[in-house]
Amino acid sequence: MQINRRAAFRHLAGMFGAAPFAALAQDLKDPINVFDFQALAKKKLDPLAWDYLEGGSEDEASLHDNRAGVRNIIIRPRMLVDTHKIDLKTRLLGLDLDYPIILDPAGGKNCFFPMGELEVSRAAGRANALHITNGGIEETLQAGTAAKNWWQLTTGGILTNKPRTKTFVKRLEDQGCKGICFTVDIMHVSHRERDIHNGLERAWCESGLPKRDAAGKLPVAKNPWRTGIYPSKPEPLPTWETLQDLCEATSLPVIVKGIMTAEDGDKCVRYGAKACIVSNHGARQQDHVGGTIEALPEVVKAVNGRIPVLVDGGFRRGTDILKGLALGASAVCIARPYLYGMACFGQAGVERVLELIKVELALNMGLAGVPNMRAIDRSLVRVRVPAL
Ligand SMILES: Cc1cc2nc3c(=O)[nH]c(=O)nc-3n(C[C@H](O)[C@H](O)[C@H](O)COP(=O)(O)O)c2cc1C
Repeated sequence: MQINRRAAFRHLAGMFGAAPFAALAQDLKDPINVFDFQALAKKKLDPLAWDYLEGGSEDEASLHDNRAGVRNIIIRPRMLVDTHKIDLKTRLLGLDLDYPIILDPAGGKNCFFPMGELEVSRAAGRANALHITNGGIEETLQAGTAAKNWWQLTTGGILTNKPRTKTFVKRLEDQGCKGICFTVDIMHVSHRERDIHNGLERAWCESGLPKRDAAGKLPVAKNPWRTGIYPSKPEPLPTWETLQDLCEATSLPVIVKGIMTAEDGDKCVRYGAKACIVSNHGARQQDHVGGTIEALPEVVKAVNGRIPVLVDGGFRRGTDILKGLALGASAVCIARPYLYGMACFGQAGVERVLELIKVELALNMGLAGVPNMRAIDRSLVRVRVPAL
C-alpha cells in the first residue's frame, strides 16, 4: 500500500490547529497497531466525539463481552506446515476479495473527520476492501475512487413503503452497488449513557461538532440524547416479511446485520437473505446480549452452510480475525478500528489500519500453519479452559 505521508501530515496539522507540538509530530507510521490508533484518536478527538465513537449502551456489558469473548478463544497452532506463501483471498457472494476484512457501516463519521464517509470510501477503493456504506458516496463513485465492491446500508424505515423500496433498489443497481445490508437491531434509540451524560445532540455527528467557545463550552443541544422517553414509533416497524419483500424487489443480495441467535440465523435463510452478520451493533443497541464471537457458533450451526455468516464486534487484531474465521465466519467486519484511523489521519489512517490488521492476519496464519482460507477450520481454536 502506498501512503501519502505528507498529505496525512497536512490533514493532521490542520486538525490540531494550535495543539502541542507532540501531537503535531505524530506520523502515520508511529501507531503500530489498532490500540495505538485508539489512544491517538482519543487524544485528538473532542471528548464528546470520543465518547460517541467508543461508547456502548447502558452498562456497556456487551462492549466488555465483545473483547472478553475474543480473548476467551485460544488458537491451536500447527507446526511444520509450509506457509512460505500466505494467501488471504476469498470469495463472498460472487465477489473476489483480497482479504476477509470488511469495513462496517458507521453513522456520524463527520464528528471524527470532515466528510468522513468519502474518506472511508476512498480508503476502501485504495485498499481494495469491501465497504458497507451509510450512503452519500456519489462523489467517489463518479470519480472512480470508491471501492469496487460496496454494499449499501439500510435500517429499514424506507422498506415498509413498497414504491420507495423499488426506487431505492433501482438506484443502487444502477450505481453498481453489490449488495444491500439491512441492519435489524436498531429499531429503537438505545440509551448510550455517555452521550446522554454529555448532552450530545446526535445531529452534530452529521454536521460535525460545533466549535467550543472561549470557555471550552459547546452550544446547548436543542434535542439532546435523553432517557425517560417511552419507546414508540408512529409507523409499524420492519418485520421478516419486510426482509422477504426487499429480497424479492432486488437482484442484489441482501445481507442481514444484527443477528445474535440460531433462530434468527435460520429465519434469515428462510426469508431470502443471502448472508447474515452476527453483530450486536458494536454493543451500542441492546445491552447484555453477550459477545458476538460467543453467538457466532450457534448461528453458523443453524445456518449450516446455506448462506455465508459474517461477524463483527471487538475484532482488533489479526489473531481476532483468525479466531472469527475458525469459528465459521466467512469474513469479519470492523468499525471502531478504522474510525480510529480516520480520526487520526483521514483516508490514510483508514488505509493504514486495514494494512496493519491484514498483515497481522497473514503473519498469524503463517505462525499457525494455515496458509490460506481453505486451511482455516474449527480445529484451529478451542475455548479457554476455566482456571481450576
Ligand atoms: C460510531 C459508530 C457508528 C455506527 N453506526 C452504525 C450504523 O449507522 N449502522 C449500523 O448498522 N451499524 C453502525 N455501527 C455499528 C457497526 O457497524 C458495527 O456493527 C460495530 O461497531 C462493530 O464493532 P467494532 O466497532 O467493535 O468493530 C456503528 C458503530 C460505531 C462505532
